[in-house]
Amino acid sequence: AYVIGANCIDVTDRACLDVCPVDCIYVGDRKSYINTNECIECGACEPECPVDAIFVDRKARGDESKAVFVADSIAFFEQPLPGRDAPLGDPGGAAKVGDLGVDTPLVARY
Ligand code: F3S
Ligand code: F3S
Repeated sequence: AYVIGANCIDVTDRACLDVCPVDCIYVGDRKSYINTNECIECGACEPECPVDAIFVDRKARGDESKAVFVADSIAFFEQPLPGRDAPLGDPGGAAKVGDLGVDTPLVARY
């Protein structure tokens, strides 16, 4: 799957959202997050990001600065976010969910 890394933090340009055919890029507070279960790996988002924040997860092997965001992207959906009782899960589309306004603890303190 594709993953959004540190460069997105405090930028959240959103150009990636417009091109994703399955609408699987969710906007947090300071960062956006790709749902790795919903991403079909089309790669359309990667060249759209003006700050090169998006990468494919296999490129994170051996690169700790990327690997932490692979794990963190999964955590965004599979662990309850601050202030919420239940995990977000796989909503099946970001538009209907809207901006979440919350980040993982890693991103919140970044
Ligand atoms: Fe969407 Fe990018 Fe995956 S465009 S389907 S998040 S590779
Ligand atoms: Fe972030 Fe780049 Fe998308 S800054 S919201 S990953 S276009």
